[in-house]
Amino acid sequence: MYRVGIIGLGSIAARYSTPDDAYPYCHTGGIRFCETTELVAVADMSAERQEEFQQTWGPAFPDDSINYYETDTQMLESEDLDIVAVCVRGPHHFKVMQNVLKADIKAIFLEKPAGCSLEEVDTMTAGADAKGIPIVVDYTRHWAPHLIRLQSLIKDGLIGEVQTVIGYCGGGVLSFAIHTTDMICQFAGYDPISVTGFVEGGGDVPESYEPEPAIVGSTIQYESGVIGFHVGNHGTRGGFSVEVLGSEGSVQAGFYSGTTVHKDGKLIDNATLDLPENAGPFNVAYKQITDYLDGGPLPHCARDDYTAVNEIGFATIESGITGQTIQLPCQNRERLIFANG
Ligand SMILES: NC(=O)c1ccc[n+]([C@@H]2O[C@H](COP(=O)([O-])OP(=O)(O)OC[C@H]3O[C@@H](n4cnc5c(N)ncnc54)[C@H](O)[C@@H]3O)[C@@H](O)[C@H]2O)c1
Repeated sequence: MYRVGIIGLGSIAARYSTPDDAYPYCHTGGIRFCETTELVAVADMSAERQEEFQQTWGPAFPDDSINYYETDTQMLESEDLDIVAVCVRGPHHFKVMQNVLKADIKAIFLEKPAGCSLEEVDTMTAGADAKGIPIVVDYTRHWAPHLIRLQSLIKDGLIGEVQTVIGYCGGGVLSFAIHTTDMICQFAGYDPISVTGFVEGGGDVPESYEPEPAIVGSTIQYESGVIGFHVGNHGTRGGFSVEVLGSEGSVQAGFYSGTTVHKDGKLIDNATLDLPENAGPFNVAYKQITDYLDGGPLPHCARDDYTAVNEIGFATIESGITGQTIQLPCQNRERLIFANG
């Protein structure tokens, strides 16, 4: 069993689900259901959060097997961990990651948004590369089993050659809509070369930061020739969903929506697609990480994948502000966005 420690006991670590949920949408539930991981330690500077966690999740982990810490460094210095889940808010990622990268661990599962500037993310990536360990960024919806199956079917030619991917999701470019940015890449590929973006809004932010705008829309050009369209204002169309248009057919799919496949003008019976049973995305992600530690392939949303997604996110903002199409990699790596999701 691989030993996991969580830093930050907020919504995504523990509060979006309870031990009763069959498909938990939180790290704690995912680690609990993944057959190759065990939760051994958690850290949160808030005593209330620790207490709430203990009351809610304690009974689901028998024998008081979880150790509690106030700070990330206390946990990292005291525990022998294999995987660390970084579940603090975006503006805290950089500092916490510097501590995590000093620890003797095997993998990091980092919440989105990876960082508040490209420079921050570059530094984290270089730190992980130097240690020879992967950072996996949590674009959670990526790991819905049916989406992973569709990703592989489409790669194998289900709808011919992919030509266009349209993704739907509004909200903060880096903190929220980035899930769909990843989903567009999941089907278009992780080889973006340029982005034209439109953004709106902002708000008050601490000194030295710029506000995080919401996405109105973007066009993403890929090296392969595929074009991605990210639709931010999409009325009643469900978010976290995509339409993949190929030379022989199309797929409509999403985290919360059903799957519809057309090929050669005919509706395909989903029973022929062998779509897997539902499962919490977190246990799927943790299993990919431990499979990698057992000698398997790199988990999804690791290095080159999150780098591509992040470049698109920051380029969308850069393009929205400057009115220019941004060639990737983005030149401006210092723009510091208060991505507080
Ligand atoms: N993947 C998803 O679908 C999803 C959904 C929601 C949030 N998130 C992401 O998860 C991250 C956390 O968001 P949240 O809504 O769970 O936050 P939250 O505010 O609910 O919780 C964050 C917790 O971290 C603790 N904390 C902060 N710094 C700390 C430190 N140095 N050491 C120990 N504890 C520390 C705080 O006390 C707090 O309890 C963000 O990056 C957010 O974007 C992801």
